[in-house]
Amino acid sequence: MTTGQKAVVRDEALRDDDRRMPRHVAIIMDGNGRWAAARGLDRTFGHKKGVEALRTTVSHADKLGIEFLTLFSFSSENWSRPQTEVRQLMGLLRLFIRRDLADLHKANVRVRIIGARDDLAGDIRSLLDEAEELTRGNTGLNLVVAFNYGARNEIERAVRRLAEDVEAGRLKAADIDSAAIGSRLDTADIPDPELIIRTSGEQRLSNFLLWQAAYSEFVFLPVLWPDFSPEDLERAIDDYLGRDRRFGGLTTKGRAVP
Ligand code: IPE
Ligand code: IPE
Ligand code: MG
Repeated sequence: MTTGQKAVVRDEALRDDDRRMPRHVAIIMDGNGRWAAARGLDRTFGHKKGVEALRTTVSHADKLGIEFLTLFSFSSENWSRPQTEVRQLMGLLRLFIRRDLADLHKANVRVRIIGARDDLAGDIRSLLDEAEELTRGNTGLNLVVAFNYGARNEIERAVRRLAEDVEAGRLKAADIDSAAIGSRLDTADIPDPELIIRTSGEQRLSNFLLWQAAYSEFVFLPVLWPDFSPEDLERAIDDYLGRDRRFGGLTTKGRAVP
């Protein structure tokens, strides 16, 4: 991204331009284990270092004027890792909220959590509730933490709620449409991500935002998450800005194709 572009990021006019900043960037933070292994260290060190990259990324996304930043922190499938690693990841979340919540609040960041909360330990649930409660009124960056998140699980829960509404006579089956489904997802009032970044070189979604990613642009970076820098974020956004988003139509870059 050029400095000129950066300067106008918060300019609403840019949002109407065909090279506008993404409102919502989602990141699959992958590669902590490989980062540690490459240094002959335990995976633990990779996760710790990953939290530092997370902090830097949140503050840079805020600076760039991104409205929503979603970070995939723990998937519904990550429970299948060794118990010691799961325990460490839970510990890191606790530590992050305890250490960083006050600073995030001061920076006017609104924290939201998506994922299945019921399966989590009681103290973690309370911390997540506290983070959301404390920052509810904030008007800056929306930091969406996907924790114990799996898109199929999210869709299952939404469909179950739909079925309950139909059973209770609150909703007719004929009225089920995209909006009815979308409004029952964890991301109900969050716009779909324009850009999804995955680090570590893997090129898959791993059960992340399946519904919301219908028209997202993807940027896969070879960098391991602990090495992810503000420049990597800007490069990914630059890449996104050069994409031609057609949504099934025939226009390109806002101009009709002859
Ligand atoms: C991402 O790094 C962090 C989580 C999935 C919690 P990994 O732990 O998946 O690192 P790799 O993919 O094994 O290198
Ligand atoms: C996806 O990474 C989940 C998170 C980044 C939290 P994984 O490392 O769990 O994904 P797979 O197993 O390589 O697909
Ligand atoms: Mg991984």
